Amino acid sequence: MNIDVESLKRFEDGLDPEHPERSAIPARILGYGEISTIFEIDAESTKGTACKRMSIFSTEQEVSEYESIYNGYNTLLQKEIGIGVPDYGFAWFFAAKGNIVAFDIQTKLAPESIAHRALHLMDTENVRALFLLILRQLTKVWEFNRLHPDRAVGIDGQISNWSLAGFNPADPKIGPDSKLLYFDTSTPLMKEGGVEQLEPELFLRSAPSFLRWLIRWFFLRGVMTRYYDARLVTIDIIANLYKEQRPELVEPMVDTANSYFAGEGARFRIEPLTIKEIESYYNEDSRIWIVFLALRRFDRWLHKHILHKPYIYILPGNIKR
Ligand SMILES: Nc1ncnc2c1ncn2[C@@H]1O[C@H](COP(=O)(O)OP(=O)(O)O)[C@@H](O)[C@H]1O
Ligand SMILES: [Mg+2]
Repeated sequence: MNIDVESLKRFEDGLDPEHPERSAIPARILGYGEISTIFEIDAESTKGTACKRMSIFSTEQEVSEYESIYNGYNTLLQKEIGIGVPDYGFAWFFAAKGNIVAFDIQTKLAPESIAHRALHLMDTENVRALFLLILRQLTKVWEFNRLHPDRAVGIDGQISNWSLAGFNPADPKIGPDSKLLYFDTSTPLMKEGGVEQLEPELFLRSAPSFLRWLIRWFFLRGVMTRYYDARLVTIDIIANLYKEQRPELVEPMVDTANSYFAGEGARFRIEPLTIKEIESYYNEDSRIWIVFLALRRFDRWLHKHILHKPYIYILPGNIKR
């Protein structure tokens, strides 16, 4: 993919991380991730691309290691495992303030094709069909991991991480031609010789330094390992239906997952899921993210009013949970 680094630099230099929407070079925010903010930057060379900004790297070595893991993960998903990903690229540079800023670049996918948007237009039967498509894509990963445990791949199968190619909002249905693309590749979890390739500490960078030990303890352990576990990833997808304000879908999707893992997916020996377990998982998970975000806001406040130091991270606005 062709990337114009100069435009990204100009954008970065005009960016106010506290008010990204007021940046000197206009940009639209396509989404907020937990560690990245996704922009469509209004410049000739960046039109039609999604630019995922990350400011967590502190050395050239860190960012080039990340780049090669990111590329490796995309290639592995696409070429070996057989999950489609959008066209992608990567760029990084030293910003005017001296810090390293990196961008994952991807073809911008139609907002209405992003599956959690599409979800809101669909009836239960179509959501069930969508969920089955996702389970089948994920099965390719679980199968790969079963055959190559030392090269296992982690994936965040959440509905908001998939795009439905050719989805028509005027006729919101899943049909035989519906195809999924997986685009949330900015957390490339994969092992080589049984060893996690990505440095988990990177994900603590945007966390307040005074709390890293706490977060390391209750957050990293759970969050990094869950994406390798077929049962937990499935629970995570269903639990997110609460966040998507579709709680009535939880029960039918639990049934769908259970019959999938009793039939097509039986070789993975997944114990049946229960609604109760989804509820308590969701309560704990949303609490983790709410606390995490509140602490980061507090840290931003500290930087501004007490430490008088620049705060380089972008924090999401209020997330309805
Ligand atoms: N290539 C893309 N095209 C259009 N929108 C995107 C694209 N990538 C991300 N987004 C939007 O940003 C949101 C978060 O992106 P994602 O890659 O899932 O980041 P995170 O890993 O932080 O969850 C997505 O749910 C989607 O709405
Ligand atoms: Mg995501």
